Amino acid sequence: MDILKLKDFPEDFLWGASSSAYQCEGAWDEDGKGPSVQDVAPVIKGTTDWKVCSDHYHRFKEDIALMAEMGFTEYRFSIAWPRIIPDGDGEVNPLGVKHYHEVIDECLKYGIQPVVTLYHFDLPYALQEKYGGWTSRQCIDDFVRYCEVCFKEYGDKVKYFLTINEQNMMTMFNMGGYKTDKERYQANHHMLVAQAKAMISCHNMCDAWIAPAPNITCVYPLTSSPEDYLAAMDYDQLRNRLYLDTVCFGKYPEAFALYLKERNAFPDIEEEDMEIMANAHPDFIAFNYYGGSTVKYVSEEEGRAAKEKMTSGKANMEEFMTGMMTEPGMAVGCKNPLQEETSYGMGIDPVGLRITLRELWERYSLPLLITENGCGVPDTLTEDGKVHDDYRIDYLRKHIKACQQAITDGVDLMGYSPWSAFDLVSTHQGITKRYGMIYINRDEFDLKDLARIKKDSFYWYQKCIKSNGKDLD
Ligand code: BG6
Repeated sequence: MDILKLKDFPEDFLWGASSSAYQCEGAWDEDGKGPSVQDVAPVIKGTTDWKVCSDHYHRFKEDIALMAEMGFTEYRFSIAWPRIIPDGDGEVNPLGVKHYHEVIDECLKYGIQPVVTLYHFDLPYALQEKYGGWTSRQCIDDFVRYCEVCFKEYGDKVKYFLTINEQNMMTMFNMGGYKTDKERYQANHHMLVAQAKAMISCHNMCDAWIAPAPNITCVYPLTSSPEDYLAAMDYDQLRNRLYLDTVCFGKYPEAFALYLKERNAFPDIEEEDMEIMANAHPDFIAFNYYGGSTVKYVSEEEGRAAKEKMTSGKANMEEFMTGMMTEPGMAVGCKNPLQEETSYGMGIDPVGLRITLRELWERYSLPLLITENGCGVPDTLTEDGKVHDDYRIDYLRKHIKACQQAITDGVDLMGYSPWSAFDLVSTHQGITKRYGMIYINRDEFDLKDLARIKKDSFYWYQKCIKSNGKDLD
């Protein structure tokens, strides 16, 4: 419906950007921090490790000052659990606690609302070693205890907490390295219960709002065949609804639960679990969005063949990715011929963002916060020290416009926090894949001087924020 007159962004709209601790802080073993599962994972060939990253741990004041200069009213960052409790379940580390007080205070000094993710992929390694991480129910209590330390320390200063970043990606892409689907969905269930308990604690201990932070996207059927449409509905349950129906409605999406039971992969659920989930009540939904998903129907047989190929060691990249996204008898992820892509193959789909916002709002009726969205590509630093990233400006412009259209459609959108404020290390493609509006002067292996350089997108976003989203030229 584009006949409606575009509404303005609300006056209190949150403008900012995001980061995560292990991808930007560096200082991986300083001031008492314990190793996380990320720190000990094998480093991907050709990419940097996590030891220095953007050196945000030492330079956060400079970084937050630059965010203030851009006009940010929020900054989403994560607290590293192994900085607060180095071995995951033991003593609290006072230096870790102090560090995040300083980061939060620095934000507040400039009127920037801290939006704090409690867990962004960096489980304390000690818990993985001790009892297999999330496969053990013990991880629920250890996570809740850690969250309660954060609520007690920061709950009077932080208005917005996020529980777990992209739990759905961790489960779908088996980031925990689980051996069976049953084990994978058991770990996922433990995270769901842990998240629900953390929300209840947050509401008991402070006035802050709390939300889940999955990666959500609309799902397109590859063709208009009814089978593909059904595959898209099923895939929506697997990819999105499993993570939001559970926390918003306290129940597993039905068809997907039956699918898991049929495959003996449904988790063991203790009597009180569903009641805990039903009582959790998120105050809003935070979500990351990087383009639409497209699927087509696959038979049981085709699906199994795709999975086998994927694990055979002989699959090329596309076969590997397709196999990874295949659920035999349900769906297979496909490339969308109509969707633009970045040079790293990530979708560019601003209309999909509007659709996703509409679907979330119409299904859950909770305020929404976009906590990631962005264009990760290599940037070039010119000889006179500039970065002309017009491709990023174009990307941001189109997605911000889509936000405005969704607001016009009636969606309650609280803010836009793209990935990322400054360059940081990508999950798999090193620092060459840059997302920031502030350039960090380092290469993959040469740390150079780590100077902060304002890209063209810095000035563009500054202008956009100043006009509260009216000036997108
Ligand atoms: C999200 C994650 O999946 O996407 C971030 O929450 C990540 O941690 C971001 O960095 C971009 O993905 P990538 O793989 O390009 O770093």
